[in-house]
Amino acid sequence: MDTQASLDAESYLIPFSQNVKLSSQFFKHFSPLDQEYVKATASVMKEDFLESAKILLPESRKKCVLICLGPKEDWTLRRARLLFRKSFNSLRECNARSVGMCLSDFVGPNIDISTVAKEAALNVEMAAYEFKEYKQKSEKEAPTIETMVYTVAPSTRARQCEKQVRMGGTIGRHVNYARTLSNIPGSDMTPSKLAASAKECGKKYGFDVQVLDEKEMRKLGMGGVLGVSRGSSEEATFIIMEYTGTSAKRAPIVFVGKGITFDSGGLNLKPSNSMDEMHMDMSGGAAVISALSAIADLKLKAHVIGLVPAVENMPSGQSYRPGDVLTSMSGKTIEIANTDAEGRVILADALTYAEQYKPTHIIDVATLTGACVIALGHHALAVLSPNDLFAKTICETGEVSGDYAWQLPLWNEYESDIRGTVGDVLNASKSREAGTINGAMFLYQFAKSFKHWAHLDIASTMTTASDQHLSKGASGTGVRLLVELAHCLSKK
Ligand code: BES
Ligand code: ZN
Ligand code: ZN
Repeated sequence: MDTQASLDAESYLIPFSQNVKLSSQFFKHFSPLDQEYVKATASVMKEDFLESAKILLPESRKKCVLICLGPKEDWTLRRARLLFRKSFNSLRECNARSVGMCLSDFVGPNIDISTVAKEAALNVEMAAYEFKEYKQKSEKEAPTIETMVYTVAPSTRARQCEKQVRMGGTIGRHVNYARTLSNIPGSDMTPSKLAASAKECGKKYGFDVQVLDEKEMRKLGMGGVLGVSRGSSEEATFIIMEYTGTSAKRAPIVFVGKGITFDSGGLNLKPSNSMDEMHMDMSGGAAVISALSAIADLKLKAHVIGLVPAVENMPSGQSYRPGDVLTSMSGKTIEIANTDAEGRVILADALTYAEQYKPTHIIDVATLTGACVIALGHHALAVLSPNDLFAKTICETGEVSGDYAWQLPLWNEYESDIRGTVGDVLNASKSREAGTINGAMFLYQFAKSFKHWAHLDIASTMTTASDQHLSKGASGTGVRLLVELAHCLSKK
């Protein structure tokens, strides 16, 4: 955190904006010739947001990335996230090994130094992530940026910034872990492997993990989880995590994650071009496991339970069938209209299981519906809750965390769509209308005893979008939001 250290870096990030021009804290340490060179380059640039240039300083021979913030008054937290990622990618393309960056350069009327510090570290981690586990050794070991040297202007509270940098980096690494869990192919990330990963995290970061097998689930009457699992040769697992960072007597917050390790659709088999990403159908589970890891790693003063039913949805002679009626743990019967609407069926049992904790707040996270992608594209996850105020808190926390969230209605008017003919509730309505709302409405039937319950449909944000400046594949959606929620809901 000192300027001298960052001057030793091989390369620098230098922002500029239309009305403020070049004001980097590094400038006063540059030679006049180097300064002139940077200024001359900036003067011929278009000055659009994220417009960038890679330059080599003539005198010091240091590499720089010059990047445009846009007008200072438009400089926002949302823009900052994208800029840190884009800059990191450009610096990586310069083959830089170490990067110096002055956090004070990015402070503006709408973004303070603490936020800059956290978001820079978090987004640099996210931008640095590439899923290379299945690549050849040579590609795995390709050189990349190894060190980031953050500095602040004199008279800034460096200690506070250091703390924020550390926090941002920690959260970023747990987001990336969720991305890895989701990116691993379905054959290698089975329900038992997902449970083993949760156990590993519990040991490493300090939270309890218990895993129920199918026999134990049968005893509990989890007909939903067991019904979906019937077609697969992989045993289902039910992962229970508990982090106690405050009195264990305090009512906890519960996070529930959909852990479908591969969703073929079952007997209602998916079309072939809709199946290749379905190893990521456990992204809700990955978010919950990684959020618990992050919360424990950050030692938040919170009591958090994580529940992940992990199941593979496959077609076979043993599969559950359209028209079947399953008895859920709650006693409610579920009429199966479509075996591809499996997520809600396993989550029903997890919600019932959660009742014993009498949580202050309960949030389920699931890649539940394709309709969510149609509604929101890739830039927001959907929030549905009977409690508008709670939904609003989640959307606001989404903005703060970077996992942007948007509310859809969960009005009683939609309830008739999921009423069963033979069973109590139908797992998929006859029409394709309001798919995301129907999914949430089904879950709501199993969440009526909770005062604060919300459902997050993360199908929309499961993978990264091309303009997010992140590598292709799983996005780690939900981790930042759950961590931030655990932090702010525990304070209440
Ligand atoms: N896992 C899928 C939803 C999904 C689609 C997630 C695309 C991520 C990207 C889910 O289990 C599913 O298949 N839902 C069905 C529900 C329908 C049968 C009521 C859907 O959305 O088509
Ligand atoms: Zn499905
Ligand atoms: Zn699914």
